[in-house]
Amino acid sequence: MSLQLNRSTFGKIENAGHVLSREETDNLLNDWVKNDRLKLHMKQVAHLMKCWAAEKEGFNEADQWRWEMAGLLHDADWDQWPEQHCKRIIEYLEDKNVDPEIIRAIASHGPNHFGVYPETKMDKMLYAFDELSGLTHAYSLMRPEGYDGMELKGIKKRFKDKGFAAAVNREEIQDAANRAGVELESVMQFVIERQGVVA
Ligand SMILES: [Fe+2]
Repeated sequence: MSLQLNRSTFGKIENAGHVLSREETDNLLNDWVKNDRLKLHMKQVAHLMKCWAAEKEGFNEADQWRWEMAGLLHDADWDQWPEQHCKRIIEYLEDKNVDPEIIRAIASHGPNHFGVYPETKMDKMLYAFDELSGLTHAYSLMRPEGYDGMELKGIKKRFKDKGFAAAVNREEIQDAANRAGVELESVMQFVIERQGVVA
């Protein structure tokens, strides 16, 4: 299911830096998302976004939260309004005068679905983490040790095995890494080392 957004600008430039608080974000998630698996997915992607912003981009806490918030809310409307994903969350955040970069990142996290292509680093990393996070989580569920001792070669094997977690689009993962200008293997390593703390 996908919806072409047919837009290229999101939010207003004068709202740059304006964010929801963590409490407001949590309340929105609790209101909109009843599916615990989906909520976990968004928390995992959010954690990866925050870690990347801190460790790879060297961003301060305010910017780390902007990245984390994009991760936390990117699928917020999927549970109740899948036919309007991600139009509904975009319009909600625009109405709340949220930073346009956050809204744009959410709008471009599935370029093949929404017709909006990632431009900023935030856009690109959200796109990169989205499907790879899901693949890695699926792999953790089949390992008795979960994330403990997970190795790059294990996730690479599952990436090649298209029958494993078949809904995960491998081409999108590779496309995302290419667009972000990062080695796919290094993003995989980043995910397997960090995602396990979010359960
Ligand atoms: Fe997602």
